[in-house]
Parts: sequence; structure tokens; C-alpha cells
Amino acid sequence: MSRYLMLRTPSANRVYAGEAAPLTAAELELTAPFARDIADVEIAGVGYLAFDADDLAPTQLATLATQSACFALFESAGDLLRPVALPRPFDLDDDLITIPKYQGKTNEQFTQLLLSVTLAAVTREPTGPRQVLDPLAGRGTTLSTALLLGHDAYGVEGDEKAFQQMASFYKTWLRRKRIKHTADVTGVRRDGKSIGQRFDASIQLADRTARVTAFTGDTRTSADLFGKKKFDVIVTDAPYGVMHGSSTDVRGVSGRRDRSPAGLLREAVPVWTSQLMHGGALGIAWNTFGLSRGDLAEILSRSGLVVCEGGAWERFAHRVDSSIRRDLIVAVRP
Ligand SMILES: C[S@@+](CC[C@H](N)C(=O)[O-])C[C@H]1O[C@@H](n2cnc3c(N)ncnc32)[C@H](O)[C@@H]1O
Repeated sequence: MSRYLMLRTPSANRVYAGEAAPLTAAELELTAPFARDIADVEIAGVGYLAFDADDLAPTQLATLATQSACFALFESAGDLLRPVALPRPFDLDDDLITIPKYQGKTNEQFTQLLLSVTLAAVTREPTGPRQVLDPLAGRGTTLSTALLLGHDAYGVEGDEKAFQQMASFYKTWLRRKRIKHTADVTGVRRDGKSIGQRFDASIQLADRTARVTAFTGDTRTSADLFGKKKFDVIVTDAPYGVMHGSSTDVRGVSGRRDRSPAGLLREAVPVWTSQLMHGGALGIAWNTFGLSRGDLAEILSRSGLVVCEGGAWERFAHRVDSSIRRDLIVAVRP
């Protein structure tokens, strides 16, 4: 048994407004069950996330490398810190998620945390790359994070401009990286009428072909857009009920600006549940100022999902700014 010390990226406390210690500890507890006695420690004025573990196997090192705030890992040897080499965490260059910068973007470290803890709740054995859907995809932070972590990515987005920007960024990025791929936007028709657009990319990696598919449209039509396709994981950052640019960020529930995503989620969660495989998990990040945890848990339970409760599952709430206190909730389809 050894004591390990994980050094967090310097940006972690900016992302989580000074609350990185409890959040990253909760992430480690849920995603790395082999880590015991997790504690925040300070050595020579520098904070580390400490834990005990037996000799780390390659899969365990890979889990540690993909912690959302992992910068470096050390094994504690008396007064000394012995560096532990971690594998490269991603299948693709991470500028896929860091280059796009826009109002309303979900922070990339938080997106990785949300995806990782939601994946940790999945009880279904994998049969290949996990099929990950973000039904409020924006410009695709979840989709790109899923790709980076070795999964296939799917999305729905109501804002056509955001969809177009995502599609053109993918095309430019894939071309510039000289990665073998196909990437196309095509029209979607139902009963002879045009109902929107879809983006499909097929990306040739060293050991597999990664896929991305995203549709324009209202998230409540997601099951119609994807037909029979089912997902292992649905991960989304719900609208915050605050203005991003000049448009409302909660679409279609009221004609005007809607301060809470409750109405939208009440209608969308049953649709998303129908798109989850049994043993799959849904993870939602949201602004608790517009909707309480209890009310969101009830929306999820009413839809037949089992909410992950207690302990580390309830240690993710953090302040983003004066109008947003963000939390995340994860539920499993039995
Ligand atoms: C918090 S943002 C997600 C941002 C995204 N994670 C990113 O980093 O780009 C929520 C998104 O939900 C979209 N949205 C809101 N209501 C919608 C609806 N009814 N159907 C589809 N998309 C909707 C908004 O346009 C916005 O892009």
C-alpha cells in the first residue's frame, strides 16, 4: 500500500471558484474505487489530493490520468515525492475542446468531470465505445470531451447558429490536424418537409473509427431524430436561465426569457429516458437558483430513473458567479 498525491491543474480553483478540493475529491471517490482514505493535504504550501492505493495497474493509472483536474501524480516516499508517469489521457489533441471560446460554453474541466461521474454510474457492461448523447449540445463541449475520452458522441441543439459553428469548427480542426475523416452537414426531411440539419463525422483513429452525429432541433424531439438508437450515457448542461448574448437560453417553454429550466426538463427528461439503454446513466448539470435538487430528483424519479444519492454524489454544488450556483445530479435507468 502506498500514499499517492495528485497535483491539481493550476486552473482548477478558478473553474470551481475556490471549491476544487471537495469537488475533485468527490470525483476521485466515484470514479476510482481503488483510491482509499482520500484527503486534501498541504505540503510546503501546495495543496494535493492524497489517497492510499496498492500498486497501480495500467487501467487504474488511466483512470487517474483522466481525472478532470489531474496535472501530475506522485508517490509519497518519506519526505520525498516520487513522480508517477501517467498515460496520455486522450485519443486526440485536447485543443479540440480548448480552442472554441464563446459565451455560454460549459467549462471543459467541469464537462469532463460530469461525463466521468455519469459514466461511473453506468451498470451496463460496455460492448464497444460508449455511446454518449448531449441533448442540449450547444457548440459541442460534451461531444468533443466524449471523443477525447474514446467514446462516440451525439447531440441535439436548438440554436442553428451554434450548430453551424460546431460543424464548421470540427471540419476545420480535422483538416488542420490532417486526420483521416469524413464530415458533412445534410438536410433532414420528414414526410417530404425539411425539418432541420444533421452533422455526421467519421474520424479515423489509430485503433478505431470515432463517430459524431448532431441534429438541429428541439431536444423534446430527440427520440424522433435518433429513431431506434439508444445511448449508454446522456450528459447535459441545462440552460441557466440567464441571458447569453441576445437570445433566451431556455428555448420553447415560454415565448420569453425563462428563468428556470424546470418546464423544459419536465418535458425533456421522459424523452431522454426513453433513449437510454437499461443500465445506462443520465447526468445533468444545472443552476440550483432556478430549480432545487429535490425538485429535479423528483422529475428524474417520475421518469423511472433511480437517482444516485448521498455521499460524494451530493458534494458537487459550487458557485460559478453571482447568478449561478451549479450542481450535478446523476440517475440510472434500471
Ligand atoms: C448551457 S448551454 C450548453 C452549452 C454546451 N454544453 C456547450 O459547452 O456548448 C444549453 C444549450 O441548450 C440549448 N437549448 C435550450 N433549450 C433547448 C431546446 N428546447 N431544445 C434544444 N436545445 C435547447 C441552448 O441553445 C444552449 O445551447
